[in-house]
Amino acid sequence: MAESLTIPANASKRETYEALLPQIDAVISGVDDLIANLANISAILKQAFNFHWVGFYRTTSPKLLMLGPFQGPLACVTIPFTKGVCGTAASTQKTVLVPDVEKFPGHIACSSLSKSEIVVPLVHNGETQLILDIDSDKLNDFDETDQIYLERIVFIIASQHFASHKTA
Ligand code: SME
Repeated sequence: MAESLTIPANASKRETYEALLPQIDAVISGVDDLIANLANISAILKQAFNFHWVGFYRTTSPKLLMLGPFQGPLACVTIPFTKGVCGTAASTQKTVLVPDVEKFPGHIACSSLSKSEIVVPLVHNGETQLILDIDSDKLNDFDETDQIYLERIVFIIASQHFASHKTA
């Protein structure tokens, strides 16, 4: 298993994600424990991009997200599927990109520093199993490039931990 992360200097966002994908694959492959892998993926994304908050929520009871491994400030522990950006991604089973969280009705402000957010769901057997949530302290910090690569990262998790994964 890789012990340190190689992050290219002066690279574009796309180049950084391209460099991270094989490293994420290498770090998690052969590790059977989902929580351990979610923890390392949070750390990798935090270290590479210094996002304000990056982590996961898992569906541990019907229509309820439970806080999972993350990096960043203290976070809300549970989020119903009916609430917030996370709940919206979990219930619609689609990536939600929020350029300005203050303009998103029902946004849950775990941290007042969060300005923009992206949430990617992992759907297996028709159910949202977990979501990847990233908050930035800058407005409009996420775009299609983030969506494409974060969905790929979620696909890597799905392929390893949820057999016969189908994209939403
Ligand atoms: N802002 C999220 C809540 C989770 S925290 O950002 C970690 C939301 O509206 O669902």
